[in-house]
Amino acid sequence: MADAHYELPELAALYDIDSGWSEDRAFYLDLAGAEPSRVLEIGCGTGLVSRAMAARGHRVTGLDPARAMLDSGRRAPHGDRVHWIEATAQDFSLADRFDLIFMTGHAFQVLLEDDDVSNALTNIRRHLAPRGVFAFETRNPVLRWEAIFHTTGTLATETGPVPVQWRVLWRRGDIIRFDTHYQLADGERISESTLRFMPLDRLTELLIATGFDVSAIFGDWDRSAFDPATSREIIVLATNPA
Ligand SMILES: C[S@@+](CC[C@H](N)C(=O)[O-])C[C@H]1O[C@@H](n2cnc3c(N)ncnc32)[C@H](O)[C@@H]1O
Repeated sequence: MADAHYELPELAALYDIDSGWSEDRAFYLDLAGAEPSRVLEIGCGTGLVSRAMAARGHRVTGLDPARAMLDSGRRAPHGDRVHWIEATAQDFSLADRFDLIFMTGHAFQVLLEDDDVSNALTNIRRHLAPRGVFAFETRNPVLRWEAIFHTTGTLATETGPVPVQWRVLWRRGDIIRFDTHYQLADGERISESTLRFMPLDRLTELLIATGFDVSAIFGDWDRSAFDPATSREIIVLATNPA
């Protein structure tokens, strides 16, 4: 079961306001290249990047377990050009093979256990064409995310401002549990989330154990090198050798 903010239609409808176009989205759009290619986004949500890729002529599949997010993506601009699938990273099975598979919006961090990560990586590699690329990002665990996440904000919706509060409930090692409080006009909604912040060395071990070549690790969306002490992101390009 995905978090309430992905499962409840009234919260899924707020997602694109909270997470609009940004440099991370542009990074993945560029990765798809200029020539039409076969692309799969896993944990696509409303498919902001998938829809932009489809508008450029790529053949795009968007996969996510949260039906409300997929429905929101279907109704959004260019939503009719994406092939939408309701499934998880661990259990999807498609006949197609892809040139690029990606996970963004830190969707990779919903994979909590090593088994979840290994099953997802095995599944992803199986769906890549030879020399196909798997690209994703995860937040650098050395930063104090428990402090960064504990914040408030306001979403400017068409029907008025929605105050939002994020509260970190606990951090245990790689895992952070937090909830998000949305003050909607008809009452509060609370969504609870758990994310894993995996260190680069463990991530690299699991990628190599799955048979991937790790082709690049960046620390920022401008492709600058990963700095273990200061980078916010661990951005990974992994290639299927065969
Ligand atoms: C933060 S959203 C990212 C959405 C989109 N990629 C973006 O960048 O806007 C995380 C998404 O991961 C999805 N998700 C949760 N568990 C998943 C799983 N096991 N496999 C694939 N996606 C999952 C959620 O439903 C949600 O839509």
